[in-house]
Order: sequence, then C-alpha cells, then structure tokens
Amino acid sequence: MKVVVGITGGIAAYKAVGVVRALVLAGHDVHVVPTAAALRFVGRPTLEAISRNPVESDLYEGVAEVRHVALGQTADLIVIAPATANTLAKLAVGLADDLLGTTVLASSAPLVVAPAMHTGMWEHPATQANVRTLEARGVVVVGPASGQLTGADAGAGRMSEPGDIVEAALDAATAANPDLDRAVVPETAGVSHDRLAGRTVLISAGGTREPLDPVRFLGNSSTGSQGVALAAAARDRGAAVVLLAANLEVPAPEGVRVVPVTSAQAMLDAARAEAQAADLVIMAAAVADYRPATTAETKLKKADLGDALTVELVRNPDVLATLAAERPRPDQVVVGFAAETEADPERLLALGREKIAAKGADFLVLNEVGFDRGFGPGETAVTVIDREGRVIGEASGTKPSVAAAILDAVAPA
Ligand code: CTP
Repeated sequence: MKVVVGITGGIAAYKAVGVVRALVLAGHDVHVVPTAAALRFVGRPTLEAISRNPVESDLYEGVAEVRHVALGQTADLIVIAPATANTLAKLAVGLADDLLGTTVLASSAPLVVAPAMHTGMWEHPATQANVRTLEARGVVVVGPASGQLTGADAGAGRMSEPGDIVEAALDAATAANPDLDRAVVPETAGVSHDRLAGRTVLISAGGTREPLDPVRFLGNSSTGSQGVALAAAARDRGAAVVLLAANLEVPAPEGVRVVPVTSAQAMLDAARAEAQAADLVIMAAAVADYRPATTAETKLKKADLGDALTVELVRNPDVLATLAAERPRPDQVVVGFAAETEADPERLLALGREKIAAKGADFLVLNEVGFDRGFGPGETAVTVIDREGRVIGEASGTKPSVAAAILDAVAPA
C-alpha cells in the first residue's frame, strides 16, 4: 500500500526512521513528509535512503504536479510519528500551512498519529481537547507511552515504539479498506514489539450492583474510568482486550470486546469464562463484598416495611482471589486494585501488602480514595506493588496516563 509518513519536529523524530524502515521492509511504498522542524532532527538523506523515495517537504516544490494534494489523494494510509503538541493542534483545526497539512486535508485515508511531547504538554487541557477532537473524527491515536523523557524527568509523553505504531497503522488501513495487503513486518526490521502485542487482556471496570428488589440496588461510586483507560491503553499496545463492564458511567473504548455484567456473582461467572484465554487479568472494578441475602420479586413497599428496614447481607465471592487461585496457566499474570481510605502512605502500603498476600495476585495497584477523591474522570495517584510487597511503580495524573504507567509496571516492553 502507499503510505505517507509525516514526521514532525520533536526529538522522537529519530525513532520515526524505525517506522519508515519497518513499513519499507514489509513491502509498502513509503513517502516521507517531514516538517521543516523535523528536518532539524533527522536529515533528508537518511529519510530518502530508508524510504527509498524522494523526500518532499516544501509546499512550493512540484507545484505543476499539484503535489500538495496529489500525495494525500493517492495515499492508502497516513501515519504521523512523532506528532508534536503543535501538530495535534494544527490537525484539530485543519491548518494547512505546510505540505504535511495540505496532504492530510486532501486525503480521505485513515490517519494514525503517535504523539510525543513532555508530560506537561500532553496533559494540558488544550492538547487533551485536541486529541479528543481528532479521535472523534476517527483519527487513531497511538500512545504516548510512559517512561523516561528526554530531560531528567519521567512520565507520559514518550512516543510509542515504532513496531506498535506500525501495527496500529496497518490495522487502521486494513480496517478501512479490507482489500489492502497488510503485509507482514519482518523480524529483521529490528523494531521492538510491546509485550502486549497479540496478547489477550481481561479487564474489569465499573462497580457492581447488588439488587434489593426489581428497582433498587446496593452500589458504589466507581464510574469505570480507570478500567476503561486501562482497556484503551492495552488496546493501543496491540492487545485483544475483553472488558467486563459493570454499570459503566463512561463510554467503553472502541475496539475492545465488552461483556456487560451487573452483580458480583455475574462478574465472577463471566470472569471465569473469559480468563481461560487471558494472558493478563486486571481487576479494576469495585466489586461489592456483600449482597442482600434475598432479592424481593416485587418492589419493596413502605406500607409493608414500616419505619425501619433491616437488610441482611451475605458475603459475595471474591472474583480476584478466585481467578488468582484458578489460573489456567502458571504464566498468566493477575493484577488487583485496592482502593483504601488510608491517607498515611506507609499504612496504605502495609494494607496493600496484606491485601496482595490475601488475594494471591501478582501485582496490586493501590490508590487512596475518599468521598471526593479517586472516582470519576479527574486525576488520580497510584502505587504498584509486587508479590514481595516491593513498590515497582508510582504514577499520578490523568487516568489514561496512569493506565499507561500501570501497564509499564505489570507488562514492561
Ligand atoms: N474484588 C473482587 N471481588 C470482591 C471484592 C473485591 O474481585 N468481592 C477485587 C477488586 O476488583 C479489586 C480488589 O479485589 O481488584 C480489591 O478490592 P477492595 O475493595 O479494595 O478489597 P476488598 O477485598 O473488598 O477488601 P476490604 O474491603 O476488606 O478492604
């Protein structure tokens, strides 16, 4: 297929060479369109040698061939890696002040972008709004990953690995046009694949509801945001994702298989079945520990109950502990969450260590919650511990950035 690779001006531009090389070695016809800023990070001769095609960057070259629209019109796929914050903003409003901008606007091919920038720039509401605009328009956003940045600090903003970008881009192209030949990226392309590429990941999200009668239930404050962000992050890393969705208050991500469940018992039944094929299990849902001992067949009436109502509750099965005990394969990785109201970090860690031992999980993601903390779309902070109780990851920020950090900790590349 004919692929346009746009490269924009960030330090990750050097890694874009890996994207071009993998596509070329898979047999695709690759045309690189660097911005002027990108050419300050990688030279045109490198890009021409690797892409095996002339490299176009100037809007005023080849005007007679109407090059500013020709490339876009004939492309089967456009990949922009790295996509800077500035480029995401330009794409969101449709600016076309360079060859890459006109190429994108003139094209109806799938567009895949791999953002790369400092964490602060990525998390800025302007960038996040631009990303949402692009996603709503069908643009596939790959990454960014979390990890060491160019400076001394670490966080979300690293460009995803070239192998993951290429896989996501080829998936997008063949989904849009099944007649295209996806071709196989040979191992010799030297691109590293994320550990989750091709794996099956089971994630629970949301909060269970335990029915009292046909119209009432015992529930909790979980909206499902963190589990949904994990599902999207695992999908972006190439995993086949199954989402056990318990009463989500946020939309489930595209491209994951959603299994709706309501109560703890229903979650256990579905989780047991789905865990058979899973390489990684992440139980992020808030599961009720107790359910009403009986569920009334018809609506409970005050006239029958009087001024006080006592409800007897019985213990629910523990989904996480059951899955950890019944692993279908010894190499299946099981991750639990622990939401605690303990504010003291040391005591929070101690609770986490007790909980991971009690549940038999491989990793536990600990977070502090309160009446106004930890739930919904806002920021969060987590600590990830392993079986030995060692802290192996810490992250704070938006739920998507924390989701990326959790995957980095439990399934490193
Ligand atoms: N969990 C579960 N089944 C339950 C209760 C909890 O699978 N019946 C899972 C959650 O999905 C989460 C982890 O266990 O991954 C920890 O949940 P949490 O509510 O923090 O712990 P509890 O086991 O309920 O312990 P406690 O309420 O006593 O602190």
